[in-house]
Amino acid sequence: MRTQVLIIGGGPSGLLLAQLLDRKGIDTIVLERKTRSYVLGRIRAGILEQGMVKLMRKAGVSERMDRESYVHDGTVIACGDEQFRIDFTKHTGTPVVVYGQTELTRDLYDAREAADGEIIYEVEHVEINDAKSDRPYVTFQKDGIAQRIDCDYVAGCDGFHGVSRQTIPLTVRKEYEKVYPFGWLGILSETPPVHHELIYSSSERGFALCSMRNDNLSRYYIQCSLSDRPDDWSDQLFWDELKRRIPSDYADKLVTGPSIEKSIAPLRSFVTEPMRWGRLFLCGDAAHIVPPTGAKGLNTAASDIHYLYHGLVQAIHDNNNEGIDRYSERALARVWKAERFSWWMTSLLHRFPEQNAFDLKMQSAELAFLQSNNEAQSALAQNYVGLPY
Ligand code: FAD
Ligand code: DHB
Repeated sequence: MRTQVLIIGGGPSGLLLAQLLDRKGIDTIVLERKTRSYVLGRIRAGILEQGMVKLMRKAGVSERMDRESYVHDGTVIACGDEQFRIDFTKHTGTPVVVYGQTELTRDLYDAREAADGEIIYEVEHVEINDAKSDRPYVTFQKDGIAQRIDCDYVAGCDGFHGVSRQTIPLTVRKEYEKVYPFGWLGILSETPPVHHELIYSSSERGFALCSMRNDNLSRYYIQCSLSDRPDDWSDQLFWDELKRRIPSDYADKLVTGPSIEKSIAPLRSFVTEPMRWGRLFLCGDAAHIVPPTGAKGLNTAASDIHYLYHGLVQAIHDNNNEGIDRYSERALARVWKAERFSWWMTSLLHRFPEQNAFDLKMQSAELAFLQSNNEAQSALAQNYVGLPY
């Protein structure tokens, strides 16, 4: 088998790249370790920057998103019983969009199927070979049978636990990491959201986030201990704890119900450099992870795809390598800013086990400054809606 761009990973990064390249007449094959339904069962991000929205439109897969998504012009930041609002549209002219990663991924799968795009599911033992040559190839097993695909370029879109990053030798690869001493316990429930905008809440008992997918589907998160398991948290325990962490006017009107999904995600900041090695390009979670507090994970994957897509089109159609040669540098410049913002939002709003009284005062002072300062609110808004690319 042969293709122009072999894409490892059928998450949002890999599917979006395949769909965009297809529309430029460039052929791709996507290799995915799991099944389509497994990928769609993972409940993850919910907030899209305009950059991601535009890429979905460019990829011709925005019809349902444009119809069913919700535009959010601002967000509530709460601290104890105090709260204030940050108006994204006033500060930046740009809102964000609420549309679940699950829905977006489903739209991309449907579009790939409609275009007869090749996706090979349940692949095992994927190996990238000769990435430093002009003729890379990828080997894997499907149903126990060894296969080989020759290609011009390999896009490593296989997430944090994938093989692509590991293919880059340790002598070349430099990794930067910060692991946070807590996780997020998230639930999805078929209940109306407590508020029409998101609420990011700092409390003495830890962070909480009230989010949503639609008018009758809410997504709530609470900071939890790394040793907690989802089964440790009955729905009742979750709701009781959430109510203690959000301002009482919201707690009083929170509609509770059975959870339809419950999971725990650890929080991590991680970047690998460079994001290119020969003809292998890393995108999205394969190259970087942010703690979810700033809603940047999926959106940073999107900016990588934007740079790589343009670079590959330029290389393949115009025989000009400028875009792929500068891919790593361009992607990383934006990645580090998203890392900084996500780390900052996380540091501002969570309770850290090692915090002393001084540290707590610093958090309160920073929140008070944010509440009262127009420029600080503008800086948050600019980062939250997404830096330009
Ligand atoms: P992924 O979505 O991880 O996709 C990678 C794909 O590659 C997967 O389908 C995987 O099965 C496949 N794969 C892995 N290894 C191989 C292999 N060897 N061969 C073939 N295929 C392989 N972001 C937010 O903004 N908000 C959130 O609330 C949020 N919650 C999250 C919760 C969790 C538990 C996780 C893990 C992430 C969360 N994120 C969140 C981050 C966001 O979901 C990711 O940034 C986004 O999924 C990145 O997309 P991706 O396509 O790069 O990687
Ligand atoms: C959601 C997740 C986030 O990490 C975030 O910052 C905002 C919203 C969500 O899943 O809805």
